Amino acid sequence: MTQVVHVPLGGRAYDIHIGRGLLDQAGALIGPVLPRAKVAIVTDSNVAPLHAQRLTEALQIVGIASSTLILPVGEATKSWPHLSETIDFLLTEKVERRDVVIALGGGVIGDLVGFAAAILRRGVRFIQIPTSLLAQVDSSVGGKTGINAVQGKNLIGAFHQPSLVLADIDVLDTLAPRDFLAGYGEVVKYGLLGNATFFEWLEQNGAALVAGDHAARSEAVRMSCQMKADIVVRDETEQGDRALLNLGHTFCHALEAATGYSDRLLHGEGVAIGCSLAFETSARLGLCSQEAPSRVRAHLKAMGMKTDISDIDGALPDPVALVALMGQDKKVIAGQLNFIMVRDIGQAFVTTDVSQAVVLSVLEESMAAPAV
Ligand code: GLY
Repeated sequence: MTQVVHVPLGGRAYDIHIGRGLLDQAGALIGPVLPRAKVAIVTDSNVAPLHAQRLTEALQIVGIASSTLILPVGEATKSWPHLSETIDFLLTEKVERRDVVIALGGGVIGDLVGFAAAILRRGVRFIQIPTSLLAQVDSSVGGKTGINAVQGKNLIGAFHQPSLVLADIDVLDTLAPRDFLAGYGEVVKYGLLGNATFFEWLEQNGAALVAGDHAARSEAVRMSCQMKADIVVRDETEQGDRALLNLGHTFCHALEAATGYSDRLLHGEGVAIGCSLAFETSARLGLCSQEAPSRVRAHLKAMGMKTDISDIDGALPDPVALVALMGQDKKVIAGQLNFIMVRDIGQAFVTTDVSQAVVLSVLEESMAAPAV
């Protein structure tokens, strides 16, 4: 059964469809959004052989013509050269203001294509068809688009909401276990930041999710999208509450920078470690009980996920250098770093009042923790 989460953003409102077999129904679902029977699809070389033909056929069946650009896989694609290549493709395809561009892929494709759509002809519409768990529960929803700069991740971008999101649960079957678990880092984040009941549900259903239970996967994606939609509607451009979605991300971004945005640490793995460090820091600051970080770590470990910096292979900079890397975070305001701390599971809040000495000691201990 397909479930729909509505994102009520006035003139920028849209639906997120979540369910099985949505790729095969794409023509029927996308058709009503189009001004004419033509779309441009942008995907990557991993996703294209798995899903592009099915999408093209599903569009063709209802008479929608499509052309496809296939970009290289990986974070390096979120860069000026590939943005330029995408814009060239869309202009060559004569994509007009009311036309629709489809982003078929994970977070990299969604962010890049969304940004290309935001700036092409001062904004064309786009549809997200996320193919990774991370993209289905986070990056395809909420309109954050962009590319990376040499100075840091996602530093160049725009808020540009999609016109429709199709999260086909079946495509998650093609993910490597490591990629699925990385996406799960973002799912857990929702429970941890704002819904203890959802976290409890994940403690009970996490194993079924990993084993491939489609109903459980569908429910986890729906719940995550609903929570994200609620926050985005309250604070679309991150002036306040939306920062809560960055639980664990200040630590994560420093660790990603320290590992060169490489396969040593996938983004969702960094989020899981970051959440565990955010809970530990909160406990050290007396903001939450010591039971809370222990419970978070126990669940992440039970899922076979990384929870400590020592779980990352290879050498890393020392804690002082890691704190310096946090300074490049987008949450720095007037030179002050905003942290997302917690009062308990499901009770996150934003604060600047975090002692650097405590952060340093949490990082030091996490680097020395026995690796999984
Ligand atoms: N990924 C965090 C946000 O969309 O705000």
